[in-house]
Amino acid sequence: MQIEYQLKPLEQRRTEPFIPESNVGFGLLRTDHMFLMDYRDGQWQDPRIVPYGPFEIFPGNMTLHYGQSIFEGAKAFLHDDGEIYTFRIDQNAARLNRSAEIVCIPEIDPKWQLAGIRALIDVDRLWFPQQQGACLYIRPFIFATEDKLSVSPSKSYTFCVMLSPSGAYYGDSFDKTIRLLITKKYHRAVSGGTGESKAAGNYAASLRAGKAAAEHGAAQVLYLDSTNTQIEEVGAMNHFHVRKDGTVVIPTFTDTILKSITSRSILDLGDILGLNVVQETVMLDQFIADIEAGEIIEAGGFGTAAVVSPVGSYIFEDGRIVTVGDGEVGQYTKRMYKVLTDIQQGKLAGPDGWMTKVERHETISK
Ligand code: PLP
Ligand code: COI
Repeated sequence: MQIEYQLKPLEQRRTEPFIPESNVGFGLLRTDHMFLMDYRDGQWQDPRIVPYGPFEIFPGNMTLHYGQSIFEGAKAFLHDDGEIYTFRIDQNAARLNRSAEIVCIPEIDPKWQLAGIRALIDVDRLWFPQQQGACLYIRPFIFATEDKLSVSPSKSYTFCVMLSPSGAYYGDSFDKTIRLLITKKYHRAVSGGTGESKAAGNYAASLRAGKAAAEHGAAQVLYLDSTNTQIEEVGAMNHFHVRKDGTVVIPTFTDTILKSITSRSILDLGDILGLNVVQETVMLDQFIADIEAGEIIEAGGFGTAAVVSPVGSYIFEDGRIVTVGDGEVGQYTKRMYKVLTDIQQGKLAGPDGWMTKVERHETISK
């Protein structure tokens, strides 16, 4: 298979580097093109780059009715050498296939996922927002395309990769903590379900809980397991806490928690961070008691979009508030954020293979 290029006419494409005047925000902008590949007749075929634009789908499209759709989220960064590098994108390709397995979508050879992503970034490289802390957010996704109303796996799918030039998640500063709602009413996932996948339906299911969070003055929800005894994760990030000896604790991955690549990276970076990073089952009652006793001094979330997101307090549905340490961003959280973003931005050497250069193929004239 070869990638086919059906690019916008040169005069309609970006021809100068993108230098935004203010923070471009997260996920708002699009580049000129997208990568597509179709599944039909039992195989993935027709890899191509085309202008970014709407899909034509039938009202009976199975995704619209039964939600057979999965996605990934990754980032690429511009380094001082003027080249764009993806961060651990092979992990995203592997996880997309794990999500595919969970919702009965045919897997895509990671080689083709990555070829598509790199070709697309290469074509639209001038869209990289030249701004402190910015990135190209990469959103690969697969959705069912068969026009059929019975509940069964679709026989056809589309794989699409789109890019969103995005700014630093925290704008210019990393100095504010957020509050999380601890809910015993809403659950994100149950064992044997789809919680471990990035299935679109998981995010639809989180919206009602997100509304409840907002009503409690919280930014997001901290989900518990279905017995309301263990801490699982946040709607779009894993959870962590830091004990007063500096040990970072991430809840053990189960089939109700997304295996965050950011969490995996912090676990892998323990030595560089100079921190002990562990995974454990985290019991809610003990967690709260340890915060109140000053045994837990920092907490937060890990995610591609969220990076390292500091949590200053938790609120329960009855209005009880528990503040972590002094409620401010702590030194360990700052260290994790700095080391991770320095590696991503090429200021600090990370482990081999984490950053991969997007090669230039003179595609601009194709
Ligand atoms: N948990 C959920 C439910 C998510 O949607 C995300 C975001 O991708 C994460 C955790 C963090 O995962 P990652 O670090 O791979 O982005
Ligand atoms: C990401 O962090 O990449 C995600 O996919 C979270 C998203 C729901 C914004």
